[in-house]
Amino acid sequence: MKTVTNKRGLFLTLEGAEGVGKSTNIAFITQYLEQRGIEYVLTREPGGTQLAERIRDLLLAVHEESMSGLTELLLVFAARAQHLDKVIEPALGAGKWVVCDRFTDATFAYQGAGRGLSVETIGQLQSLVQGELRPDLTLILDLDPEIGLERASNRGQLDRFEREQQSFFRHVRQGYLDIAQAEPKRCKVIDASKGLEEVKLDLLAALELGLSRIT
Ligand code: TMP
Repeated sequence: MKTVTNKRGLFLTLEGAEGVGKSTNIAFITQYLEQRGIEYVLTREPGGTQLAERIRDLLLAVHEESMSGLTELLLVFAARAQHLDKVIEPALGAGKWVVCDRFTDATFAYQGAGRGLSVETIGQLQSLVQGELRPDLTLILDLDPEIGLERASNRGQLDRFEREQQSFFRHVRQGYLDIAQAEPKRCKVIDASKGLEEVKLDLLAALELGLSRIT
């Protein structure tokens, strides 16, 4: 008889403020999974589906009219609801791992610590949109915002978030560090100010340690 496996995949997220090197490091994570023959879906937030990418465009574009913090928060969660329904939940349900470039920790860091929206409001939307779903493991790349913003500005046109003041990114960084302190089992902080090879080794060590605790 054919064995039916109903084991859900693991949900890994990568976080950090602008210019911390998420793209490079996400490639290290996917290489690691490929070497171990783990089937995964690589995706990102805001975005990850056609509709959610439209919402991403709205969020990142610079508009003549300023966007209220609550509008921003609702758009982030609207994109997330779509992403969960179309990509994340189906993949996890099929036993695939999901590697997501940002998720709800970014909302607590940017809309919460950065924009000053309350943890309670964000928590309510988190429950509404995600139910009990949370990442199994989160790797947070940490870097002084002064360095991060300089790196980001070298990439060309700045988006609506990248145009924020350094003080905004100091709050974002602290928001991430507070989350990591509150949830040390799920979140691992990686010092992204080191050289690329060292960051890679730290990231893979954190990934192995985190996975050894949950698999
Ligand atoms: P990216 O540059 O990593 O692709 O992310 C796009 C921007 O979206 C980034 O500046 C952070 C912001 N963002 C939020 O403000 N809240 C969120 O919940 C997410 C997922 C991203």
